[in-house]
Amino acid sequence: MRKVIVSPSILSADFTHLQEELNLMESVGAEWIHFDVMDGHFVDNISFGIPVLKSIARAHHMLNDVHIMISEPFRYYKRFIEAGAQLLTFHYEAVKEDRISELISLIKKENCKVGISLKPKTDIEALTPYLKQIDLVLIMSVEPGFGGQSFIYDSLNKIRTLRQKIDENKLDVLIEVDGGINENTGPECLKAGADVLVAGSYLFNHDDTLSRIKKLKGVQ
Ligand code: DX5
Ligand code: ZN
Repeated sequence: MRKVIVSPSILSADFTHLQEELNLMESVGAEWIHFDVMDGHFVDNISFGIPVLKSIARAHHMLNDVHIMISEPFRYYKRFIEAGAQLLTFHYEAVKEDRISELISLIKKENCKVGISLKPKTDIEALTPYLKQIDLVLIMSVEPGFGGQSFIYDSLNKIRTLRQKIDENKLDVLIEVDGGINENTGPECLKAGADVLVAGSYLFNHDDTLSRIKKLKGVQ
């Protein structure tokens, strides 16, 4: 049985109590914290960036799982790593095909784990050339840009296809799923082969966070 990792997305957090929110997620067993960077250009929303990451990166013991939904990952990857990113995931759709390997190498050169994220409409086959180079694939199960959206069920086929490819080729790549994850869709993603579940609105601003994260992990 694969270990399940939960990565709460702070996009849904109460930013007037961010330290408490981080403490809460760590206390209920979240292994990672998901940091959704939006530039208002690659996606139709602006979230937060380097100063916020810098201020929280060392204020907890979870892994800083940074998802950059930005049009210029080459321009900013280094600053996110310097600010504390331990896993940096850029979007396939934001980089010219002939420069993807270059960006992967640049991120790894900074001793940072590297992931590639796919929008819902991007075919999983697009990542075949890179699976040996990366640590993680982030499958978007909603259109990137906002928390609180509904899960796109076609994502389950993508997860299954990728799981099969990883297992057949004995690759060391994690599958992370992001968007609309809750007590119903989370276990479906795990059954399809996911390793890491991102959850924002399902975990933040509720008074039963421990029970919720346990349901995601299938431990209750
Ligand atoms: C959307 C982000 C997701 C989002 C998840 O662009 O990448 O991480 O915050 O939020 P929920 O879990 O509420 O769908
Ligand atoms: Zn995300």
